[in-house]
Formats: sequence, structure tokens, C-alpha cells
Amino acid sequence: MTSAQHRPVGPRYEGWLTGIDSICYGGDYNPEQWPEEVWEQDVTLMREAGVNLVSIGIFSWALLEPREGEFDFAWLDRLIELLHANGIHIDLATPTASPPAWFFHAYPQARVVTREGTVLGFGSRGMASPSSPDYRAAALRITEALGDRYGSHPALALWHVHNEYGAPVSEDYSPTSAAAFRDWLRARYTTLDGLNAAWGTRFWGQVYGEWEHVGVPAATPSVANPAQRLDFARFTNDSLLACFTAERDALHARSQAPVTTNFMAAECPSTDLFAWGREVDVVSNDHYLTAADPRCEVGLALAADLTRSVAGGKPWMLLEHSPSGVNWQPRNVAKRPGEMARSAFSHVGRGADAVMFFQWRASRSGAEKFHGAMLPHAGTSSRVWREIVALGADLAAASELVGSRVSADVALLWDQESLWAQGLEWRPSVDVDARERINTFYDRFWRDGVQVDFAHPSQDLSGYKLVVAPASYLLTAESAANLTRFVEGGGTLLVSFFSGIVNEFDAVHEGGFLAPLRDALGVTVEEFLPLRAGETLQVALDDAGVAPGLTGTLTASVWADDLTLAGASVVGTYLDGPAPGAPAITRNTHGSGTGWYLSTQLDVDALATVLAPVYADAGLTPSGLPEELEVIRRSGAAADYVVAINHGSSPLSVESSAALGTPAAGATDLITGAEVDADVKVEAGGVRVLRVPRAIS
Ligand code: GAL
Repeated sequence: MTSAQHRPVGPRYEGWLTGIDSICYGGDYNPEQWPEEVWEQDVTLMREAGVNLVSIGIFSWALLEPREGEFDFAWLDRLIELLHANGIHIDLATPTASPPAWFFHAYPQARVVTREGTVLGFGSRGMASPSSPDYRAAALRITEALGDRYGSHPALALWHVHNEYGAPVSEDYSPTSAAAFRDWLRARYTTLDGLNAAWGTRFWGQVYGEWEHVGVPAATPSVANPAQRLDFARFTNDSLLACFTAERDALHARSQAPVTTNFMAAECPSTDLFAWGREVDVVSNDHYLTAADPRCEVGLALAADLTRSVAGGKPWMLLEHSPSGVNWQPRNVAKRPGEMARSAFSHVGRGADAVMFFQWRASRSGAEKFHGAMLPHAGTSSRVWREIVALGADLAAASELVGSRVSADVALLWDQESLWAQGLEWRPSVDVDARERINTFYDRFWRDGVQVDFAHPSQDLSGYKLVVAPASYLLTAESAANLTRFVEGGGTLLVSFFSGIVNEFDAVHEGGFLAPLRDALGVTVEEFLPLRAGETLQVALDDAGVAPGLTGTLTASVWADDLTLAGASVVGTYLDGPAPGAPAITRNTHGSGTGWYLSTQLDVDALATVLAPVYADAGLTPSGLPEELEVIRRSGAAADYVVAINHGSSPLSVESSAALGTPAAGATDLITGAEVDADVKVEAGGVRVLRVPRAIS
């Protein structure tokens, strides 16, 4: 495969929002829930808070098209003029995430049917079947009408297509969807023989003799065909994406403004974001903290790094997050003082050039009245409002970060198809969880202060020093060849267990488990040896003359492999468990690079031990900063920027030159405007944003 065959990453569009040259600040604005006299107060307060962009019209279809084909834009005209007169730009939505009551009444066949056969009703939100021709026609009609009316409006900075494709529903098991799935399968396999072979239908007598007999993988008596389910996940993604591209194209035909749709990176299992990233003009993301997670800042950072990676490293937009608690988690923990700024600047540090919230003014009615808002029910005398105003000022002061980029030497592999496939039933152990592995490896890098990107295994990886596969269950032969070439070219590859198992049809690779990575890793897997619930085992480390510093014993859990060596050195050996004395961790040299294999589950502390020689192989150095101090660097045309966030409860210093490049002399604090001492203190819970002159970095 030449580099031209690598899967491209990120939007092709080179522009950014028209009319805004500072960090975008604002949120979802739903003024149709309020009398118009409130709008005047809204814009006055928006100006006080430094708001320069609002997302409008997201759920307004029923008001904009009260009867099929009859439009009422008068209120939206007034709203847009008011915002424009006050210098506030608009991110104008197509309202297609929430079709009106008349639509479902007129087109009942467009309703989504669940896997268990329940027909979903009206009275909440959620789109109709993405495969429904009636839905697609209605969505296009309202999109075209909005494009015609507002496509050239000077207040228009961005189009916001739909809302969070894939949520709250994605897969549809209706007859409408089944017909579209058959068309999709015909296009993919051409013949029924091709489909039967790809799905392995000779197993359990599932062979199809007629296209009409092929259906959606609805509830079945026992486990459904995994290849069919994997294809259904792909089909669902493609159907949602086709809805997006149809609306995008209609807007492109009518307007110069860029088009986005808000992702839920790391949280929406039905969309293959690397594919979506190529279709939007600007990548944007919604992120909500997981209140139950005491270190939710790590999950935030993961989502932000994934979003930036989907954007191919280009600046991206945080289109929604919450000023305080949300309303949909079991316990909706309010953000504590300072947390709003820490969250916002972590996104900014990781490449966001927009900090937007859900939502501007708290709703008095409906399902989200207990959700945090920039202007909460308590009004302007609230702590949340004061922090919103302060954050607006701080972001304005940090505006020169706009357009600067984050770079990383480490790539963590992320492949949604593999996540879909691994998530199906009847895998060797219920304790193996792909997301757990990704999160744990990510957490290790976060604690080490090592910046990572996420990468698709088929993309060009040659710019990275270290590539990590925490969970690459489905790995195509082409992607495995790409990883092997990466090693041959001098890269360091670290592969964790239960990777390289199946191909794109969820069929085990010829040659056995891990066979496609045999050359890179010098090892294959003869048999899986999953552990019983709660069981642990011990791994004795041995540097074997190739992994300096690798000594001692580690405790591991969940999994072991019975490995067959094919050239690798053994640097970790099972002391107990199902295969005492057998290799557990291996290191291989191949071409000019190195391939590591980890056949068991290590926690975040144990990973630190194993990663030390891996970092050495890759020529990487951890930051050496305290774990609670998050330090991220963005590089601009003329200067670098350092965002330092103290998640701890006592002051910390960014004293290490590893973080700043050199001692901080000559750096400026963008928020205070002050020159910075060599020892940069960050108060407990505080944030600092520094400009570091390029000459000394
Ligand atoms: C998002 C959604 C918003 C709002 C928010 C509440 O997923 O896009 O409309 O519902 O959640 O947290």
C-alpha cells in the first residue's frame, strides 16, 4: 500500500468560521421557549458575558414548518436581526433531529422500531428512521428553505446540521430500514453468494437463497450472526451519514458558511467518527463530564484528543458542555467553583477554538429544566453566572491561541468497526472491555504528561514515534500491514491482548490469532487463557538485555495468552495462573523498529513499569510533572502556548523545562498580561495560559 492509499483524516475544508477571529463563546439558545421581551435581556446579558456565537433553531422544526410545506420564519427573522444588531453571530441549525407531530402522523412508516420490535412514539425528541425516504425528503425541504432564506445573512458564521446524529436512537429495525439494508448489502456484495460467504452463513444453517429473505438482525432465539450485526452497524452509520451529507450539500449549494454537526466523541457508539470527520467542514463535539468518575478530567481530555484527531489536527469546536451539573445522570453533580474554567481550558489546550455550552438560559418547562445553564434559574446573582462572565473575559484574553495546533508523538489506535465487532456477544471473556483498555492506556499517558493523538489503524502513522493498540480486535490485513510497515520504518508499536483476531467480516484470521502482526511482534497466540472472575496472576519481569530497567513482579488480571514465539524476546513471564513459566510480555525487533506485545491486563500503575522501556525505545520522555498538573502545549505561527491546569488541592509549579520547552523566562500570562517567573505557580484548582516565545522554546 502506498501512502496515497492511506485513509485520509479530517475535513478537506481549509477555512474557519466567517466573522469571528477570537475563541467562539456562547451556547445553545432556545428563545422560542420565552416571550420576546426576554430576548432583549438575553442579548444584553450575552454582551456582558462576551458571547459572540449562539446555536439557534436546533429543535424548532414544529415552529418553522407548522404544517407540511407551510413555513413561518417571522420569529426567526426577528431573532437573527436582534442578534446581528448586537454583534452576535449565529450557528444556525437545521432542525431535523426532532420532526414535528404532523410528520409522524403523516408518515407512520418512518417511525423507528427497536431491536425488540417496539415502535417508538412521538412526544420526546429523536429523528425518524434515517433510511426513510419520507424523512429524508422532509429534512431536505426544511434545510433548503433555511439555506435559501439565511444562506447569505451576515450574522451567519456556521451551519449546525441536525443534532448529535446517532442519539437518542440510531439503529432502526423497521421494514423501511430492512429494505434499505438489502439495497446496501447488494451494493456491498453484489451477489448472494458473496453475502453468504462474508457472513459465514453455512454456520447454523443460515444460508440465504433469496435477497428478500435477508433481514435486519432483530431479536433472535440465540445469538445473531455477528457478521450480519457488524454490517448492520456499518449500514446504520452510513444511513446517518447520508442524511448529513444530503443536508450539507443542500446548504453548500446555497451558502458559503461552513457546515458542522455536533459529535459525541468517545460516547456515541453508532457513528464512525473518522469517516464523519472527512465530511464536515469544521469538526465539533459535545462533551459532558461523567459525575460518577472522580477523575472525570481524564475522560474529558480523552474526548478532546479524539475530537482533534478526527479533525486531522485542525482546530475544532466544543459545541456543547455544561456550565454545571446535567440532568440525565443518576446523580447530577454540580461543578464546583473553578471547575467550569478548568474544563473549558482543557478543551482549549487540546485544540478547541470554541467553548460553547448547553444552554444559554435554563428552560422552565420540559425534560431539561434541571440542567445547568449559563443563565441559571437563580439568574445573574448566581455563582455560575459570575463564572460565565469571568470565563468569557479569560477566553477573550486568550484569543491569540486561535489557529495554533497541538502535536503528539504517540498515537492510540481507535477503530469504531473494531469496537462494534468486539462489543458483540459470545466473546472469550465478559471481563474484556475494549473501552476499559483504551481508557486505561490513555490515563497512563495523561498521568505521564505525554500528549497523544488517536489514529485509525489504516491511516499514515509515519509521523508518530509510538503507536499503541489497546484493543484492536478487528484488524484488517491492510491495517496490519500498515502497522508492520510502521515498525519496519523505525516506529515502536505496543499491542495489547485480544488484538489482531478477526478480519472485516468478523472471521478469525487465517494462520490464527495475531497472525497478521506476526512479523512486527515476533509472536502469535496459540490459545486464549481468560481468567475466572476476580482472579489475578503474577508476571516476573526480566530486561532480557533488551529492556533496561524492566525488573520486579507485576500483578495482572482478566486474561492470559498461550503464546508461540516467532523471534521475540521474552521480557515478562507468568509466575502462576493458567500457564506458569509461559511468556507474558515480549519485545521484538523488526526492520528498524520495535514491536511489544502485552498478553495480559495491567492496571494504570503496572503499565507505568512496562511503558518505561517502551518510551525509551520510542525516544520519548514523560513530563516529570505532578500527576494532578495537566500541561498542554499548542504551537502557533509565531509563538507556542502552554495551558496549565491544577486539578489538585495545593499549589503546583510548572518548573520542568519538559513542559515549557525551556525555563519560562520571557513567557507571558495571557490572562493577567503579566510577565512570568521561571517558576510558574498554578494555584490549587487554577488555570494559567502562557505565551512562550518561539525563540526560547
Ligand atoms: C446533548 C444534546 C442537547 C442537550 C444536552 C443536555 O446531548 O445535544 O440538546 O440535551 O445533551 O446535556
